[in-house]
Amino acid sequence: MTPTGTLDALLVEERVFRPAPATVIEANVKPADLAEAYRLAEADHLAYWEKAALELEWHRKWDAVLDDGKAPFYRWFPGARTNIVHNALDRHVHIWTKNKLALIWEGEAGDCRKFTYFELYREVNRLAGALRALGVSRGDRVCLYMPPIPETVVAMLAAAKIGAVHVFVFAGYSAKFLRERLNDSKARVLVTADGFYRGGRCINLKAVVDEALPGVRGETAETVVVVRRTGDDIDMQEPRDLYYHDLLRQESPEAATEIMEAGDPLFWLHTSGTTGRPKAVVHNHGGYMVGASHTFRTVFDIKPTDIHFCTADPGWITGHTYGVYGPLLTGATVILYEGHPLYPQADRLPTIIERYGATIFYATPTLVRMLMRYGPQYPKKRDLSTLRLLGSVGEPLGPEAWMWFYKHIGRSNCPVLDTWWQTETGMAMISPMPISVLKPGSVGKALPGIAADVVDDKGQAVPPGQGGFLVVKKPWPAMLTTLEGDDAGYARDYWERIPGCYFAGDVARRDEDGYFWIQGRADDVLNIAGHRVGTAEVEAALCAHRLVTEAAVVGLPDKIKGEVAKAFVVAAPEWRAAFADADAFASELRAHVRRELGPIVVIKAVELRDTLPRTRSGKILRRKLRAEELGQALEGGTGEEE
Ligand code: WTA
Repeated sequence: MTPTGTLDALLVEERVFRPAPATVIEANVKPADLAEAYRLAEADHLAYWEKAALELEWHRKWDAVLDDGKAPFYRWFPGARTNIVHNALDRHVHIWTKNKLALIWEGEAGDCRKFTYFELYREVNRLAGALRALGVSRGDRVCLYMPPIPETVVAMLAAAKIGAVHVFVFAGYSAKFLRERLNDSKARVLVTADGFYRGGRCINLKAVVDEALPGVRGETAETVVVVRRTGDDIDMQEPRDLYYHDLLRQESPEAATEIMEAGDPLFWLHTSGTTGRPKAVVHNHGGYMVGASHTFRTVFDIKPTDIHFCTADPGWITGHTYGVYGPLLTGATVILYEGHPLYPQADRLPTIIERYGATIFYATPTLVRMLMRYGPQYPKKRDLSTLRLLGSVGEPLGPEAWMWFYKHIGRSNCPVLDTWWQTETGMAMISPMPISVLKPGSVGKALPGIAADVVDDKGQAVPPGQGGFLVVKKPWPAMLTTLEGDDAGYARDYWERIPGCYFAGDVARRDEDGYFWIQGRADDVLNIAGHRVGTAEVEAALCAHRLVTEAAVVGLPDKIKGEVAKAFVVAAPEWRAAFADADAFASELRAHVRRELGPIVVIKAVELRDTLPRTRSGKILRRKLRAEELGQALEGGTGEEE
């Protein structure tokens, strides 16, 4: 393993932005509080997190803050009992937030639905009752294949409320993906929708479900609950398929909340690793709740008057943590948008900010670069004066996009919180706070209670300015508890690469001030528009094509998406008879990958080769292909010899 030094890593960004005095005066965490937080976390790591846990309600307190007896299977708050939904929803019904807006939803056509905490609570209870009536109980999985609509939030919370585990499959994933996730999870109930609107089109989601289901095993998906969103004609198969609204009509608006052990699973979320199959990251009720709530309150500086616009789909970790749980745990109001961010034109997101008076805008670098391409005249048309904080996540933002975001969306007076974290970390780990001095392109310092560092392959800290592996040296509450069904893989992939440290899989450097600069993945994971895609997954999909013998996939830089995939393919000789030319064959392969994996995986180019470069032990030399492609010499050997 050799960290790859990119050109970016050598450029030194010198601009700094200091917080406005008003921001400092009004912040939840003021400079003295932050200094105290670092001091406490440094002196007593567990005391810091215990204090954070005390911000929430528990049915039984913990016997210890952390049990590390079976590390790396750390148990946070052992003995404690709660349910994240008690804190996210139930308790609001007894306090002033009861009639506050919890959720503002906007459909692509401009239709809008709003839910107060009380209304959301009642809707969740109805679905919780319905799921119970369908036989779902504690520990069972409920699979969600849902677009960004209010019922998606309802379904997550209803599953959690009855102690079931939600397994979300992003609505952009293919039937094959859905089938695999269903088989993995053995979820007896699948919640989905007839369809949704995106980019001016009506996407028929139920048709994908119908394609996926014939391949599922046993009692998996014996019931499919369908939300009527578009009202389109769909196939409803009796007795398997039930309409959500029919089901809820009979249910009571009250339902008991299952009291869970802190370590009981709340959800699984699949993400791509270096192996062919995505892995299911497991998060729990207790630690995840503490991490999501604490970071949302401190990093996003949440106040009763805030309206938080999180552009992430609820099906990603960002949607889970900062689109649903974090905001509800802190009694905030969150905006969820159904459609394409540039539909019908590039001022759509600014229009949503203006319409509801959003105060926080949490987006992705790809989105910022897309807005940049259309130019500042679009945000300029809208009144964005309600905004006070901007956030970014998912991939490196870089100084240029940072400056554009700051200037044209933030009107040069909103701090940009570039938050570094992962599906596995569950919560933001490295990020500026609103009161921080900002450096464009940097994700700032590790948050209090997060022992992040940059090390070499022996685990030794590297000097400032030098690239290395990003690691976390102490456990934190919202950490993944394991990989579902693969404890050994969890220990090996995350904790044994560099013994005693959590290995994030990213390459980063730290400057003299302790600011982190993320350079990208250290492994064979691509980051296409903020979505993790394993090269092995794409290669497996390509090899599933009858005319492909071998395939290698590498990531190449892209102006908008950050990274895109290029495939090198060794084809069976019959391809010449089947296609007019290499271009026609390449488009078929691109379409094939799209069918297999969904539209997230963008293959920019396909190149046919007679052979692929390999190590002596037979591993594909992706770094060599990539270096050739970029016209670079391969430094420090291939790094793939072992
Ligand atoms: C990358 C998203 C640069 C990183 C919450 C990480 C980032 C992967 C940033 C996790 C950031 C995330 N700057 N890179 N602010 N945030 N990443 O699991 O490579 O979808 O390992 O979680 O995205 O992606 P995931």
